[in-house]
Amino acid sequence: MDLTNKIAVVTGANKGIGLESVNQLLDKGAVVYGICRNGCSTKHPNYTCLTADVGNLEQVDAAFNIILEKHGSVDVLINNAGLGYFGYCEDISVAQWQELFNTNVTGIFYCTRRVLPGMKKAGTGHIVNIASIAGLEGYPQVSAYCATKFAVRGFSDSLYKEVRDFGVKVTCVYPGSVKTDFFRHSENIKPHDNMLMPADVASQIVFALESPANYHPVNLEIRPLKPRG
Ligand SMILES: NC(=O)c1ccc[n+]([C@@H]2O[C@H](COP(=O)([O-])OP(=O)(O)OC[C@H]3O[C@@H](n4cnc5c(N)ncnc54)[C@H](OP(=O)(O)O)[C@@H]3O)[C@@H](O)[C@H]2O)c1
Repeated sequence: MDLTNKIAVVTGANKGIGLESVNQLLDKGAVVYGICRNGCSTKHPNYTCLTADVGNLEQVDAAFNIILEKHGSVDVLINNAGLGYFGYCEDISVAQWQELFNTNVTGIFYCTRRVLPGMKKAGTGHIVNIASIAGLEGYPQVSAYCATKFAVRGFSDSLYKEVRDFGVKVTCVYPGSVKTDFFRHSENIKPHDNMLMPADVASQIVFALESPANYHPVNLEIRPLKPRG
């Protein structure tokens, strides 16, 4: 897809992988909407920040109503918003479990269901879901987060088979550790320079979005070299 003037929505756009994706999409000439919980500082003539918690149906619907009333349909959705809580299973609180699933899984459903009718009608569109290598294999003390990312993988794998005949692409991204604020709830992992950089992940997302119309990258596993330095 040529991204010039395409309508793109990025969730969790105020920092990390989401912010880098916004910046790279703007560089490609896209018209970008960020969905952020608490606003963001990005200033660009082609950028609009909409405030919504992706796990809140009313707020998500209000944000997409604004976008769809203005543009009719969306060309690109990057379901990026997410967080992690870590620890032994019995130490994960019920509230943390619910927040993980509301954000990492239900939020993707809430956003995706608003763009699919327009994409299917237009016969084009691309949804990118940010999973994790924690959606490919389990890790001790990561059970709750892994459960959400395995769910994202299952959702994505089903969805691509459901919409490919409509001309709509779905790509699921599985990054290894990325140097972002993501590890703020982890006692064991601290960000370091041998991790992937958020710009690395964003550039692979853009590469997938720019793929020709006749094929679609389905799964994108991205791992750092020399992860421990
Ligand atoms: N960093 C890694 O090692 C890594 C590896 C694999 C996959 N991932 C995935 O990559 C995605 C982006 O993470 P990141 O590394 O860029 O972390 P990050 O810097 O912490 O960014 C996460 C973004 O998601 C937003 N967010 C969280 N909960 C939200 C909610 N309920 N509603 C709306 N926005 C919400 C955050 O907003 P606030 O600023 O308001 O919290 C922030 O903008 C996540 O899905 C994460 O699971 C990360």
